[in-house]
Amino acid sequence: MSYPPISETALNTIIKSNAYEPYYPYKSPIDLYDIHQFTNGQPFSAYDELRENSPIYFQKPPEWDVEPGAWMLTSYKDIMEVSSNPAIFSSQASTGNLMTLGNPETRHPKLWQTSIDHMLNLDGSFHLDLRREHMPFFKPGYVDELHKKVEIKVEVLLDAIAKVGKSNLVKDLSQQIPIFTLSEVLGIPEEDRHKLSTWMEFLELAQYFAAEGMKKTQGKTEEMEVDTSMIELFENMIGEMFEYGKHILQEKRLNPKNDLLSAIANAELGGAKLSQEYLDGSWLLIIFAGNDTTRNSISGAIKLLTEFPEQKKKLLNNLDLLPNFAQETIRMVSPVIHMRRTTTCETTLGNQKLGKGEKIIMWYGAANRDPSIFSNPNLFDIERENAAKHLAFGMGRHTCIGKPVALMQLKEVYKQILTRFPDMQMDGDWKVAPNNFVHAIQEMPVSFTPEK
Ligand code: HEM
Repeated sequence: MSYPPISETALNTIIKSNAYEPYYPYKSPIDLYDIHQFTNGQPFSAYDELRENSPIYFQKPPEWDVEPGAWMLTSYKDIMEVSSNPAIFSSQASTGNLMTLGNPETRHPKLWQTSIDHMLNLDGSFHLDLRREHMPFFKPGYVDELHKKVEIKVEVLLDAIAKVGKSNLVKDLSQQIPIFTLSEVLGIPEEDRHKLSTWMEFLELAQYFAAEGMKKTQGKTEEMEVDTSMIELFENMIGEMFEYGKHILQEKRLNPKNDLLSAIANAELGGAKLSQEYLDGSWLLIIFAGNDTTRNSISGAIKLLTEFPEQKKKLLNNLDLLPNFAQETIRMVSPVIHMRRTTTCETTLGNQKLGKGEKIIMWYGAANRDPSIFSNPNLFDIERENAAKHLAFGMGRHTCIGKPVALMQLKEVYKQILTRFPDMQMDGDWKVAPNNFVHAIQEMPVSFTPEK
């Protein structure tokens, strides 16, 4: 019998408000639920203030949300402890991230279900078994072969902008590389790959649409900021994405190839193949996790190199620094903004007592700039000795499986950019989506001396 979908349990799980008074008498100046606080990059100074004054902070929810508040963690030590202790801080005890994906009347039913039924939200042996099915596609030998293809693809994409001298880096490069790489791993045919870009853009706006929908149904707003035709388009695109996923996974079940989608489609776990719910959920997880994160690290890197020209000079003089540059970039960018866990029992974290069934949010960007671990943390230092200690890939059982693929892409892209266009720099305003789950850079103008 196949594993039952955990979204069914989630329907009946009640998240509790704080059983115990907050230990720290502090009122945060910023509400981390507010996705508009993230449209000019992450609120790093607010993270610093929280970490200094209340590293475990209970934030009440916005009045339109359907769940009670959450404990916000901003210190490296606490985030390590939570990530390393899945029996107490469970990924499966409840679901979602900080914001729910809407109440039953407004949420996109398929998106809600699939954002739950995948391995990121599982504990125990089912998680480990499903993760094992993915592993062969992230091992060194496989990644080395993939690297050769990525090398060629980066060259082709750079050729296309070489004579122009300017580009929207997101559209021309940052978005294209992860889609290419992931499609190679998953086994998505070339003619379909362009669809992933549009789906990603809509997925990055999912939180925004969900929040606006909730405000409306709770009577907190008369007019939504987003018009109904946009919501319709969003629903159509998301629908198309799931249809495509269902179709391709069916095809891979019937005619397996040596690719990750075939591995997922044919995995025998608990004596049966995965149910449609887990197929849909695994599809959503892999195309989002494998794309968006790397894309935003590639764009984020150009911003850092523009803002820290002396670091860029150092890198140009010594490309052997690329591996540490990649880690330091990911520390500074922290493209996954947060992950959530739920307490399974009463416990104590630092000075704070926590009740059972409470929501815990780990702000990775805050941990990655914790001065008790990283000296002068807001400085981009490509020679930082402990850069790789960052928690941007998570920690513990759910540590990012795609880490070697992400690092390989970032190093390759920057090796080629710095070799061919050493003066490439950010040139104009960026655009960042209102999202507090992933740092979603949607536009990044750059300029450079064109090739003759
Ligand atoms: C810079 C790039 C990336 C960052 C910062 C990143 C970050 C993360 C984080 C924070 C987690 C969750 C850790 C936790 O809950 O403890 C995660 C999990 C995951 N990532 Fe990544 N990721 C990146 C790239 C990728 C890529 C390229 C892929 C696939 C090709 C990928 C696939 C996954 C998957 C499947 C999981 C779930 C693992 C599990 O639940 O066991 N990620 N990632």
